[in-house]
Amino acid sequence: MFVLGLMGSPRKHGNTDLLLDAFLEGAQAKGAVVSKIDVPAKHIEPCQGCRFCEKKGYCIQQKDDMEEMNYLLRRADMVVLATPIFFYGPSAQMKALIDRSQTLWSRRHIMKLTDPKATFSRGFLLAVGATKGKELFTGTSLIAKYFYDAVSARYEGFLGFRDMEAPGAIAHHPTALAEARTKGEELTGAFVGRKRALFLCRENACRSQMAEAFLQYYAGDTFDVQSAGDQPAGEVNPLALEAMAEKGIDLAFRRPKGMDALEDASRPFDLIVQMGCEQICPLTPEGRIENWELEDPAGKPLEFMRTIRDEIEQRVKLLIDSAESD
Ligand SMILES: Cc1cc2nc3c(=O)[nH]c(=O)nc-3n(C[C@H](O)[C@H](O)[C@H](O)COP(=O)(O)O)c2cc1C
Repeated sequence: MFVLGLMGSPRKHGNTDLLLDAFLEGAQAKGAVVSKIDVPAKHIEPCQGCRFCEKKGYCIQQKDDMEEMNYLLRRADMVVLATPIFFYGPSAQMKALIDRSQTLWSRRHIMKLTDPKATFSRGFLLAVGATKGKELFTGTSLIAKYFYDAVSARYEGFLGFRDMEAPGAIAHHPTALAEARTKGEELTGAFVGRKRALFLCRENACRSQMAEAFLQYYAGDTFDVQSAGDQPAGEVNPLALEAMAEKGIDLAFRRPKGMDALEDASRPFDLIVQMGCEQICPLTPEGRIENWELEDPAGKPLEFMRTIRDEIEQRVKLLIDSAESD
């Protein structure tokens, strides 16, 4: 389980930073793998409003860090926006990232593609401001709501703290850090107990990527799914992306990974499915290992990719049925 914390303050070790750390500590205590991104340290250009993404499904600006952000947003089970209030909204650095999620909005609402994790991904907002204004968090909470719609995560609400001016003031608040930690535990706790599944193939570019997405799409939050390859390719095969898009499922921004990049690999998997990876799997499952004899579609035409896609879809459905009757 992967929790992404987006830290939106340009002031390091300030109130936002401390609040997010407390939330992530709570998530970690429940077993999550967490990653905190210092958003102002990233190079994220503002949206140009050119509508390129609405036609093509990706941004015309390719030279900044937004591609990496999209990869992380798509990988996360939970995304936490943490921001100081600047003029009743989020910081400009955070707003640039939010505006650039228009690419994900376009893929969802214009191209009608579904992020396979859409049924279970969650989002939460942490915010701090210096004044006591009644409406201090109203605008930012609305922005968060629509951001989470764009990134296909369910908005779970926010924790906002007023009267926090000096750096580190939040540490002297009677309950703020404890509340953030408890919220991190509580929201992450909803994911505890999912069965861990792993799909392995050679390059993690087609078969295991499609299997991972189908299991997320059809089984929702009953499985915590990952995939990997013993010789990871540089990108997900574009024909796998195309074949899955024909089913309405979006693989965009996913990346092949090696076994060494698996999340929380020391914890046993309940199920490992191998499909033609050349090494014997070094991970010991607590449950079962399956071998799916599926030909590698690498280098083959779209028609072949479709055949393998359909075969994987059927096998994943059977797998879900058998897990339900376990
Ligand atoms: C440019 C700027 C605009 C701000 N606007 C507001 C505001 O509208 N309302 C408010 O309550 N605080 C405002 N503040 C104060 C910060 O929200 C506050 O100091 C917060 O604790 C900073 O968080 P940090 O330590 O994580 O940077 C503003 C601060 C700056 C620098």
